[in-house]
Amino acid sequence: MQEYILLMNSKDAIVLEKGKVCNTKFGKIDTRNVEIGDIVETKKEKFVVVKPTISDLLKKCKRSAQIVMPKDASQIVSITGLKAGWRCLDAGTGSGFLSIFIGNIVGKKGRVYTYEKRRDFYEIAKKNIEMCGLNNITIKNEDVKNFRERNLDLITFDFKDSHTLIKKAKNRLKKGGWLVIYSPHIEEQIVAIEEMRNNDMRIYATVENIQRKWKSIHGYTHPEPSGILHTGFMTFSRRAF
Ligand SMILES: C[S@@+](CC[C@H](N)C(=O)[O-])C[C@H]1O[C@@H](n2cnc3c(N)ncnc32)[C@H](O)[C@@H]1O
Repeated sequence: MQEYILLMNSKDAIVLEKGKVCNTKFGKIDTRNVEIGDIVETKKEKFVVVKPTISDLLKKCKRSAQIVMPKDASQIVSITGLKAGWRCLDAGTGSGFLSIFIGNIVGKKGRVYTYEKRRDFYEIAKKNIEMCGLNNITIKNEDVKNFRERNLDLITFDFKDSHTLIKKAKNRLKKGGWLVIYSPHIEEQIVAIEEMRNNDMRIYATVENIQRKWKSIHGYTHPEPSGILHTGFMTFSRRAF
């Protein structure tokens, strides 16, 4: 498995593959004999070498479809209480960002099953999962409508018309297990809530998570004038019976 390192100083951070001579905007950096804690110097900069976190690695991952952003993924973690050991299903995989985020939390004793119907997206996500060093994620190049997993703690759906799978999802969750429907459009949430009610699920809430970054410059601190505001809505529900 390929190993990655993070080179950082107070202004910049860059993820590099270990064991290579890398061309970077700071000049050539030889990572062949570099260890965690070392200091690396180029003509322009000086960096400390640290272990990258999953957030560092995700920034380096390739994107295909629209991803679930960390701000929304973190909402899924805090509302459901996602933790080590959980059995999860995530579809469609897209670039694999949400699966990776979940896989990083459920750890070695947990599992993420993820389905992507497009071959090209599946290939990209598979590489992203490998790059993040997670071997607790099973990725399948299949339509999620045929998913076979049972006894799940969490199901996350992020694809068009995902409400059509709510009945099956409910039956494959453990009692008390969570179903989260993510979608950029409120219309999908409305039909999803209706279908959750029809299946006697406990609806927790529909959430839109708006995050605004601030620029902190001494004496001129203000919100950044532009950036992503709307990403998607998430409806959270739980299996009762
Ligand atoms: C918005 S993307 C998911 C992004 C993903 N959550 C992430 O964070 O990277 C939706 C994906 O679902 C896939 N998809 C749509 N319908 C599907 C189905 N029935 N079975 C499997 N994948 C499906 C699409 O090809 C697309 O890649």
